[in-house]
Amino acid sequence: MKTSELRQKFLKFFESKGHTIVRSSSLVPHDDPTLLFTNAGMNQFKDVFLGFDKRPYSRATTAQKCVRAGGKHNDLENVGYTARHHTFFEMMGNFSFGDYFKRDAIHFAWEFLTSPEWLNIPKEKLLATVYAEDDEAYNIWLNEIGMPAERIVRIGDNKGAKYASDNFWQMGDTGPCGPCSEIFYDHGEEIWGGIPGSPEEDGDRWIEIWNCVFMQFNRDEQGNMNPLPKPSVDTGMGLERMAAVMQHVHSNYEIDLFQDLLKAVARETGAPFSMDEPSLKVVADHIRSCSFLIADGVMPSNEGRGYVLRRIIRRAVRHGYKLGQKQAFFYKLVPDLVKAMGDAYPELKEKQTQIMEALKNEESRFAQTLETGMALLENALTKGSNKLDGEIIFKLYDTYGFPYDLTADICRERNIDLDEEGFNREMEAQRARARAAQNFKANAQLDYTGADTEFTGYEKRSQDTKIIALYKGSEAVEELQAGEVGVVVLEQTPFYAESGGQVGDVGFIVSGENRFRVEDTQKIKAAVHGQFGAVVSGRLKVGDAVSAEIDNDIRDSIMRNHSVTHLMHKALRDVLGTHVEQKGSLQNAELTRFDISHTQGISAEEIAEVERRVNAAIIANVPVKVETMSIEDAQKSGAVMLFGEKYGDFVRVITMGDYSIELCGGTHVARTGDIGFFKIISEGGIAAGIRRVEAITGLAALAWAQNQESLMKNIIAEVKAQTEKDVLAKIQANAANTKALEKELAKAKAELAVHAGAKLLDNAKDLGAAKLVAAQIEADAAALREIVTDLTGKSDNAVILLAAVNDGKVSLCAGVSKPLTNKVKAGDLVKFAAEQVGGKGGGRPDLAQAGGTDAVKLPEMLGSVEDWVKGKL
Ligand code: ALA
Repeated sequence: MKTSELRQKFLKFFESKGHTIVRSSSLVPHDDPTLLFTNAGMNQFKDVFLGFDKRPYSRATTAQKCVRAGGKHNDLENVGYTARHHTFFEMMGNFSFGDYFKRDAIHFAWEFLTSPEWLNIPKEKLLATVYAEDDEAYNIWLNEIGMPAERIVRIGDNKGAKYASDNFWQMGDTGPCGPCSEIFYDHGEEIWGGIPGSPEEDGDRWIEIWNCVFMQFNRDEQGNMNPLPKPSVDTGMGLERMAAVMQHVHSNYEIDLFQDLLKAVARETGAPFSMDEPSLKVVADHIRSCSFLIADGVMPSNEGRGYVLRRIIRRAVRHGYKLGQKQAFFYKLVPDLVKAMGDAYPELKEKQTQIMEALKNEESRFAQTLETGMALLENALTKGSNKLDGEIIFKLYDTYGFPYDLTADICRERNIDLDEEGFNREMEAQRARARAAQNFKANAQLDYTGADTEFTGYEKRSQDTKIIALYKGSEAVEELQAGEVGVVVLEQTPFYAESGGQVGDVGFIVSGENRFRVEDTQKIKAAVHGQFGAVVSGRLKVGDAVSAEIDNDIRDSIMRNHSVTHLMHKALRDVLGTHVEQKGSLQNAELTRFDISHTQGISAEEIAEVERRVNAAIIANVPVKVETMSIEDAQKSGAVMLFGEKYGDFVRVITMGDYSIELCGGTHVARTGDIGFFKIISEGGIAAGIRRVEAITGLAALAWAQNQESLMKNIIAEVKAQTEKDVLAKIQANAANTKALEKELAKAKAELAVHAGAKLLDNAKDLGAAKLVAAQIEADAAALREIVTDLTGKSDNAVILLAAVNDGKVSLCAGVSKPLTNKVKAGDLVKFAAEQVGGKGGGRPDLAQAGGTDAVKLPEMLGSVEDWVKGKL
């Protein structure tokens, strides 16, 4: 039975039992911050179990995409080395939301597994476990199913705490949970392993194929078990494991779906196909998780989900490398995966190009450092110690992008331990350095217990108010004097505190002659604005009545840059596609910097189109409407919301005509026309799959255009062109001319070198049967070869080894006169020489070339040649 057929059968069976077939949810649990990735079929029903959400059905069945890599359920390290662990797998599930409970759940499972109409698995191959205290489930198995008592195993709290048990399932540290009953399949006595609860339970003989969870509690953050509104059922059947059972194989990697993928991996890496090669399995497994994650919107990055994805990709690439493939190959497996799974999961087909591109990008990024990192690691590993130093692990991580578990993976293959403590120490030291580098602002742990600030800066630019707290540095004081640096907290303030990408306002806090210059505004607590700066004249006291005045020009520029960001966001999505999501932003007085998810460079045409659209929206000069509404109303209005942002119950919605609508707490212009001229000034990649666009507005954009014009005038003058139009032709002509000159120069140099080389023979060392020249000269690799050929041709017993250093790299060339090659071989000589300068090489008996890295060792190496040659004569 093919895997795809099994998937269908499961859904059909439960449909025939009154279950609604529900689509797999995304691997990214968008509305559940407790979860890194979807790791079980029940995730999408979490709120239904908890009673917070209702569905039109009380029974459901799914085939759910799951990833278990990172978070509570993490199988990454095991993948490739066991028959049944995966980073990505499919979990077939049936669910009851307050409908049936233990009895039906067990009967359904049994019927599907053993009935001749369905899977027809021999009953004697199966065994059940129950939670130790669960007599009810035990009795159903014993009395209703007729399972012999010795085949029902009670498992207690075997993991060190109450409810910490293989037979008590929890989604995470909090959330729905309950006792469970699992079904195991016996792969036969020829496979090593024992029944659950026995010392050999980790073997591959008895494999868990089915898990019935009797959902009864909601575990809260304090660890309390609160009963659920209605007892429910959550069942999981691992599709790959069950396919192995149905296809009479003992490893998931032997099922149809994986066989196809494994063959593809062998094809792309050039490695022989073998079921005993863990690296093939690792890659075949990882292409699934990586592709599905990218299809669901995850991009490789340095934090959170993106980092887990990056780790998996790098692990795959490294195993490919181990199989002998040093070029990008991983992305080429995507079409094979689409062929195997695209029918069941159409998102794979739809996003195929994007997935391939993201993988290819990440592969080539990593490829650059993989080789150097591996060399460093190999070097460290050959030192003979059986523990890898923490400093090296850190260096690999920090400089070469080797995630910790990648290094662990390599060490595991060679039985070498890792100095984890040392690694953590290095990490901590680095964090401390980063913290120390942060300025006083972020460091200032201000001990403030007063009232919240009232922010009036949406309407006002200046505000009469009162000082309620002062800090000198980070210490609370009653008074700040001229020259002192500190923080002012006001009752009301027009100063916007940095948030959502918009920088804090600057300006002055004034009372008479007393002036405090505000250099930045930051929140010192959730709703308390701190004005950071210094007293420039007089003094300020707590309780003083003051006037708070923001710098109008700067604020105007910031607002232009912020409002235009909304227009640009919209235009980017319209021009590049709706996969474009905001990944970061900054708006200050100079520019707006906007980071988006997008895998390729943005072309000049696309940039021009975005600029055209944004400027058109500016010229339309529509009013910018600001409304405060409930989050539900905002959602209904279609406002752009950022995943991962926390919004309060009430939100500000900014609408610009019918062009853009976004949730935003920032300050904005009154009409789009206020923005003036908009120009994108740069675009580039900052991380895999993330592009950064920088743009300017208003007078800054005008200044930019004027600058470009004057630059062009200078270029015209410099290349002696008449007009802008013939500048390019002039530059091209100049470049061609330079190239021709360079060629001539190279030729002249080579001639000179040959000439100089001829002299070398005059000074050759006479070894009787041979004349030896071993010298370092100035030439490039091609010239070396010419000189050597020339010299060996001129004599019938010359042995030549010439070396040169160019850009720190060593070039070697050895030559032996033909009549002498029966004794001395140039290939051997160059090999002998190259090894001493950190290189490799070889070639013909009369002529051979090599490279090296270690120029310092050259003199010593050249000195050693004489003895070597003598030994051959
Ligand atoms: N949620 C259960 C599991 O993942 C079925 O095993």
